[in-house]
Amino acid sequence: ALTACGSEDSAKSATGAELIKKDTLTVCSDVPYPPFEDFDKSSDTGFKGFDVDVISSVAEQLDLKLKIQDSSFDALQSGQALNAGQCDLVASAMTITDDRKKNLDFSDGYYASKQSLLVPADSKIASIGDLDGVKVGVQQGTTGKTYTEENAKGADIVTFPSDAEMYQAIKAGQVQALLQDLPVNLNHVADGGFKIVETYDTDEEYGFAIKKGNSQLVKDVNGALEKMHSDGSYDTIYNKYFEV
Ligand code: ARG
Repeated sequence: ALTACGSEDSAKSATGAELIKKDTLTVCSDVPYPPFEDFDKSSDTGFKGFDVDVISSVAEQLDLKLKIQDSSFDALQSGQALNAGQCDLVASAMTITDDRKKNLDFSDGYYASKQSLLVPADSKIASIGDLDGVKVGVQQGTTGKTYTEENAKGADIVTFPSDAEMYQAIKAGQVQALLQDLPVNLNHVADGGFKIVETYDTDEEYGFAIKKGNSQLVKDVNGALEKMHSDGSYDTIYNKYFEV
């Protein structure tokens, strides 16, 4: 849209990247998904986690304020939220896939991940081959859902809008297994009562998703990520959340 020169709602940041609000990076995330994103009333943004720390540093380097809002993952991975102008960028442990690249652009990868199968600690399920007729919880729109559909053909797949809901369901005995990103399932194991019986080397890389065509913002984010790798600040954040 046309706006008067210097007007408040001019939507170009100092670098020339298109933003919803020129002085703010507006970020969508599906929360909670620890250790990547979680609520935190005591923090400035209201959120915490690995993604939150990385994107906070990116925003700071670009001289932008940071606003994070909770959104449903399926609307984030489909490009719907970005296209509707709800946010400038998605920081949501989102795997870079060819399918998603049709609808959105990605920053460089910032985290390597895998899939995993979580079951109650006393379960007899030992592998993905044991899932015939078993109720398996997956999250809508995720790579874990696709992996389950392709590799556990006999499973009774139950789809949930969020990880929190599938975790509640397995606690309540409504599903007997969950297939989800390894770091998130490890977080559930740490809470007690569950074990991971298999991991799947799916070679996934998380990237920040950006509205298709906003190439200046992609460039800005990649520049900030590069700087974090060279000055050691990426490693500092990584070591805060993950054992090395
Ligand atoms: N990495 C997986 C994917 O891209 C799951 C991400 C779910 N993220 C979230 N914040 N709930 O499909």
